Amino acid sequence: MNNDELKQKIKALREAKNAIILAHYYQREEIQEIADFIGDSLELARKAAETKADIIVFAGVYFMAETAKILNPNKKVLLPDLQAGCSLADGCPPDEFAAFLKENPNHQVVTYINCSAEIKAMSDYVCTSSNAVKIIESIPKEQPIIFAPDKNLGRYLEQVTGRKLKLWDGSCIVHEAFSFDKLNEIKKKHPNAAIIAHPESEEHILKLAHFIGSTSQLLKFAKESEYQELIVATEAGILTKMQVDVKDKLLIPAPAQEDNSCACSECAFMKVNTLEKLYDCLKNETPEVKIDSLLSEAALKPIQQMLNHG
Ligand code: 13P
Ligand code: SF4
Repeated sequence: MNNDELKQKIKALREAKNAIILAHYYQREEIQEIADFIGDSLELARKAAETKADIIVFAGVYFMAETAKILNPNKKVLLPDLQAGCSLADGCPPDEFAAFLKENPNHQVVTYINCSAEIKAMSDYVCTSSNAVKIIESIPKEQPIIFAPDKNLGRYLEQVTGRKLKLWDGSCIVHEAFSFDKLNEIKKKHPNAAIIAHPESEEHILKLAHFIGSTSQLLKFAKESEYQELIVATEAGILTKMQVDVKDKLLIPAPAQEDNSCACSECAFMKVNTLEKLYDCLKNETPEVKIDSLLSEAALKPIQQMLNHG
């Protein structure tokens, strides 16, 4: 079947089964085209929390679909490919994190949504890159805080909030692939361009950035700012939506290092989902995300704290 035929079949199944397709901006273009809603992690969690659909097809990575399931224990949550992981979630094993919490008692625990349900269940707050500052600032100044699992986002939060955070040593392989030297070269060729970056990027990349934000915040900046040329330091999938929003502006993906196989910044985890897998999963209602009910209840509390924080 070609993509158009697959899309027609997906639309028919979606209606017949009262399903909703939620997609992240890093998904393949053809998946973004068929989605009912495209958003950043926080917007997708909100959409999942409020949907009346019976089935949620989550076109994103595992921790996102898992969060949707925690918010909807009685709904069917499908993920086109269960191999859609995340280096940040994988880099924070629950037993090691439990030991880290033991070594650092009396801390409030703020975790980035890019982690497993087990890590969320050990947290006081979950956050995303769009509300992390707000959440850190809502905690009394004298209260020590652990931030996990992204050390790059953590360092950025330290700078913005002026707070010292106890950081877990994790990172995103995609956002760590940007080349500082190549970025400088591109900037020299486009002196009027703004560099915009996701806060998962390394400190030396963020230092060059004119604007730092979540995927939705980067899209908003690209649309609303005066800049006609933008160098975009985040996963390349975002360029699909960005180019639709800013037809006349020049968008330049921030270059990755030589050893990066595609010389661009693509998240291989995000790209394991294909239109064909999405069709199969909606048709067969599998693979389904399942979570132990006690774990789900424990992970829900810090997620609700996040949703309460705008
Ligand atoms: P956003 O919340 O900004 O969409 O980020 C999700 C993500 O995985 C970034 O790598
Ligand atoms: Fe995880 Fe990085 Fe992929 Fe986002 S881009 S899903 S943080 S590996």
